[in-house]
Amino acid sequence: MRVLSGIQPSGDLHLGNYFGAIKQHIELQDYAQCFYFIADYHALTSLKDPVALRRYTREVAATYIALGLDPEKAVLYRQSDLSLTPELAWILGCTAGTGQFLRAHAYKDKVSQGAKANMGLFTYPLLMAADILIFKATHVPVGKDQAQHLEMTCDIAGSFNATYGDILVKPEVLFSEAPYVPGIDGRKMSKSYGNTIPIFSESSSALKKAISAIVTDSKDPRKEALDPTTCNAFALFKLFAKEQEVREMEAAYRNAPTCPFPGYGEIKKRIHYYMQCLFGDATTRYYELLKPTSELDDILHEGSHRAMDVALDTLRECQKAVGLGKA
Ligand code: TRP
Repeated sequence: MRVLSGIQPSGDLHLGNYFGAIKQHIELQDYAQCFYFIADYHALTSLKDPVALRRYTREVAATYIALGLDPEKAVLYRQSDLSLTPELAWILGCTAGTGQFLRAHAYKDKVSQGAKANMGLFTYPLLMAADILIFKATHVPVGKDQAQHLEMTCDIAGSFNATYGDILVKPEVLFSEAPYVPGIDGRKMSKSYGNTIPIFSESSSALKKAISAIVTDSKDPRKEALDPTTCNAFALFKLFAKEQEVREMEAAYRNAPTCPFPGYGEIKKRIHYYMQCLFGDATTRYYELLKPTSELDDILHEGSHRAMDVALDTLRECQKAVGLGKA
């Protein structure tokens, strides 16, 4: 089993990213050979701020390492440090049909939301296919929004293989069984909605502030019962608390006002407590890693070398098959 996934560098990773992807990625390092990269080439399709791009890229890497990604077990690298990938993308593009690119939802959505249609955005799925195929990855853990891109990857591999022989491996998608993570306003937690709770905060009071912004029900628990299934604070609490505690809390919601309801302030306090237990040490490590003198850049550098060892074999194999270079 060879696992590969790419993470877009967009600032301030939040609980949605943690439960939706990061946690699963890190757990997989004990079961499979894992390759993870920060997709800065992909981010370049929409991010035009060089300082931010470089910073976000380091932030993602620091987040993974701080949360337990072991660079000895999993290979972590910066996409742009492996220039073999865009090379393979070009070769793959020469057998890939254009129709599927015109039909890609992600591309169409971005353009309909006002993004300028650039070639990077249009060929985004081609580079993504190369990211995956260059490692002959067997499993790709991603969110449901990437399903079409994975289908395209298989299609692109199929066209190449049909022309040149059975060289590339069609990967399987591993959808994460992530719980629903609501943002502070109840919509899905997402940077684009501005409703996130960051994984790391500079201080305990900054974290407290983010948690206190969780919007709660206006019903009065001294007068009527509450519905835990529609409460954001409860949904977020449930992500951290132990089963028994969740069950007790659920009962307190449903039995209000007969039983005393601890109050939303108390629930937020517990979320804060659990977040500090889970992320407290990692937070210290994260800010250390972000310092320019930390070992972060060396880890990424080393990762790109290990990635190169594997990727070069596939690239050479493909070049040979299509008639590039010496026979
Ligand atoms: N498109 C992915 C996303 O936005 C990021 C990505 C780039 C990726 N290349 C990849 C994911 C290869 C998995 C495999 O989430």
